[in-house]
Amino acid sequence: MINPIAFATLLLAGLFGHFQPATAVGRACDPGSRPYSAWMTDSVIARQDAILSGKTEDDVSIVFKIGLFESTVIRLKEYYDADSCGKEDWHSYLLAGAESLIPRLLNLTGDIDAPMDVFATGEAIYHQYDRAHNATYKQVLDTLWQALNDRPRNSEGGFWFYKNYPNLSYLDESYPLSSFSSIWKTYFEPTNTTIADTLINDLDLLKNHCHHDDTGLIVHGYDASKSASWANATTGASPYVWDRALGWYHMALVDLLENADKNAVLSQTQRNDVYTKFYNLANTIINDADNATGCWWQVMEHGGQKGNYIETSGSSMFVYSLLKGARLGYLSGATPKGVGYTDAAHKCYNYLVDHVVSKEEDGTLGLDQTVSVCSLTTPTYEYYTSQPIDYNSVYGTAPFILASWEHEMFLSGDFP
Ligand SMILES: *[C@@H]1O[C@H](CO)[C@@H](O)[C@H](O)[C@H]1NC(C)=O
Ligand SMILES: *[C@@H]1O[C@H](CO)[C@@H](O)[C@H](O)[C@H]1NC(C)=O
Ligand SMILES: *[C@@H]1O[C@H](CO)[C@@H](O)[C@H](O)[C@H]1NC(C)=O
Ligand SMILES: *[C@@H]1O[C@H](CO)[C@@H](O)[C@H](O)[C@H]1NC(C)=O
Ligand SMILES: *[C@@H]1O[C@H](CO)[C@@H](O)[C@H](O)[C@H]1NC(C)=O
Ligand SMILES: *[C@@H]1O[C@H](CO)[C@@H](O)[C@H](O)[C@H]1NC(C)=O
Repeated sequence: MINPIAFATLLLAGLFGHFQPATAVGRACDPGSRPYSAWMTDSVIARQDAILSGKTEDDVSIVFKIGLFESTVIRLKEYYDADSCGKEDWHSYLLAGAESLIPRLLNLTGDIDAPMDVFATGEAIYHQYDRAHNATYKQVLDTLWQALNDRPRNSEGGFWFYKNYPNLSYLDESYPLSSFSSIWKTYFEPTNTTIADTLINDLDLLKNHCHHDDTGLIVHGYDASKSASWANATTGASPYVWDRALGWYHMALVDLLENADKNAVLSQTQRNDVYTKFYNLANTIINDADNATGCWWQVMEHGGQKGNYIETSGSSMFVYSLLKGARLGYLSGATPKGVGYTDAAHKCYNYLVDHVVSKEEDGTLGLDQTVSVCSLTTPTYEYYTSQPIDYNSVYGTAPFILASWEHEMFLSGDFP
């Protein structure tokens, strides 16, 4: 519960000696009011939450977090002028983060053995390659692409999420898979239709195995062998809808739609299919929003039940995907609940800012109520609701930055 404008004015007074609008590339920021997107970006960089270091080396998710945060900053700095909007040096961070990943990513066996998360680094590596055309970055991209092609898949062609979990596919894989496949097809193999076919097949299988007929929501994942104790005997589906997994899926759809329209990564039929999936899911997600906060519960379809809570990674992801979908013209009119798409998203966003974002003593922004990680090893209700909450998890802060940025574009009128 903070007053961002007043605080930013206080904090930023005197900090912008280097403010140089003449050299600005993106939209310059008024020194008196750093937008939340930029402020949270600076905070993650200042805390060193998304870089390999002694502090993060034991975090099994650190590679995904670096990839996710890097792609967030890459996008943000195309819109905002990093010099006037950032207190930290965004360019140096992007380089340092990508460099820190090189030794790990050049290990082909490691890339095959890692969770699908590893492919979320593709955008960060491509960004550095694009700047310098350095052969090392190309080698990393080649290694990642080979690893993707060498990874195990189920009998229908869906990717296993992780070598150690045979035959299990997670909604979580949709985002890294879609992001890296889009980059590879756009820049290296624009005529190779197999790339899009493989991706679309994976997205289809996830939806077909995992969607609930009644609500339209999509559960966390499926076991193609149907042998897990929790697997639905017909579909292999897991029992619960996890907000972050669905968040990955909806983000993957809207980003893919944008890529299809900008870079022709899909055929027209595939593009229309992704559009339908995105649109239907947007309505479904809005239907499931919590009435009071406008946000989403960690275990969806079970709002208000014991142990469940409004979770900030999934909620931020939905705010982002809904606002972006509206901005790009994929969502318009009223939702089945009668509210507008952007109104629904703003309601949750305002809740997040007022209730889970906080100002730290050192001037950084903090974010609460992000669940650490959830897998399909024992996907009971109690499992999801008893996983630890990670304060300032990049799984929450990176989507919050994306959500904030969409919100800011909306307020500034850069919006149809
Ligand atoms: C590469 O990754 C594999 C599998 O994770 C690991 O066993 C091996 O030690 C790694 N090699 C190097 C040189 O780090
Ligand atoms: C390419 O990038 C790698 C990793 O940053 C660096 O070690 C190498 O010196 C660079 N090579 C050239 C020719 O710039
Ligand atoms: C297209 O990409 C797939 C990998 O997704 C690869 O196996 C195939 O060889 C590529 N096709 C061509 C013609 O290069
Ligand atoms: C994966 O599932 C298939 C059936 O879909 C089964 O034949 C195969 O043995 C399973 N693989 C493993 C490693 O469990
Ligand atoms: C398994 O999935 C099917 C198809 O969604 C559904 O009709 C059925 O009720 C599910 N079975 C159980 C036990 O939930
Ligand atoms: C939320 O509001 C809708 C419409 O007003 C109502 O039908 C629904 O029962 C409410 N849900 C809860 C959990 O209060």
